[in-house]
Amino acid sequence: MQNNNQITTNIELAVRQLQAGELVAFPTETVYGLGADASNPVAIQRVFTTKGRPVDHPLIVHVANAKQLPSWARNIPDSAWILAKHFWPGPLTLILHKQVGVSPLITGGQDTIAIRVPNHPLTLQMLQNFAGGIVGPSANKYGRVSPTTAAHVAADLGNTVAVILDGGECAVGLESTIVDLTDKEPVIRRSGAITAAELSKVLGQQVSINTTASTTVRTSGSHESHYAPVTTVRLLEYPELLAAALLLQQQDKQFSVLSFEARPDAINSKIYWQQTSVDPKQYARGLYANLRAHDMLNNSVILVERPPQDIAWLAILDRLTRASA
Ligand code: TXA
Ligand code: MG
Repeated sequence: MQNNNQITTNIELAVRQLQAGELVAFPTETVYGLGADASNPVAIQRVFTTKGRPVDHPLIVHVANAKQLPSWARNIPDSAWILAKHFWPGPLTLILHKQVGVSPLITGGQDTIAIRVPNHPLTLQMLQNFAGGIVGPSANKYGRVSPTTAAHVAADLGNTVAVILDGGECAVGLESTIVDLTDKEPVIRRSGAITAAELSKVLGQQVSINTTASTTVRTSGSHESHYAPVTTVRLLEYPELLAAALLLQQQDKQFSVLSFEARPDAINSKIYWQQTSVDPKQYARGLYANLRAHDMLNNSVILVERPPQDIAWLAILDRLTRASA
């Protein structure tokens, strides 16, 4: 393996490294992925060891377009084709019955497979040139905050990846919506930018949401604690947040704040109090970078104001809840 990774926009270099069984971090519209050739068991193993991820946690296969679905999945329902046509390339992952011969390393030994076409020009070109599937969990250490820039990937994974394909800041900032199409009724297993209502509308069918750990033990992002900074995160309504901040300040404790409100006068200006966007799309885009910045301060706690209990904030609330678990 190479010792110095390269942050680059050189697609051909990335493709050559994938063909050689190396790891290539790649940009998507959601978060950066840790890519490996999905047909190379040794390369797939390397993804698990590099992330420190348990081997029974399945990986998403990224492909260039929906035409490749039959290479990875069998008994593909009409709903899959409809969703693919409507949302790909885009932040939607489909869970289907896996095709015979697909490595159990990818699927964690399950009979289902997760697949998506990501929407980023560099990565789409890479996928097209590579002409195969690329497994890609988020390019962070297991359980930690996902990366939304090439610099985040370099900070987390350092020299363990051969190439980091630099596609700038991720436009969405939260992992894809995962919808399970292996049952009669589609079920969302992980919330993301594409909502149940949008899926229902396109399918003309009810889409339910079930992201609880007990029903999706094999969906690692559904574990109670995930997406977490090293620093403790506390998710609080504003009045509780303010009370906690005042108390911590009185006790001379080091802390920082992410709130929809501006810093009140009672809070010392030395405290890092970040006022966040009230627009969920903008909030999502900056969330992981913000959490990383707060984490770097090495304080004892990050106080985060709980976002509204509203469908537009569902995926954000999900990630914050797990980050604070
Ligand atoms: O937006 C995304 O989906 C990003 C980018 C890089 O594409 N990828 C991502 O991968 O978030 P990862 O590995 O961090 O999360 C993939 C999720 C995990 O929770 C995994 O357990 C679940 O997908 N998953 C994968 N295959 C599955 C399957 N066959 N059945 C159920 N869940 C599956
Ligand atoms: Mg992840």
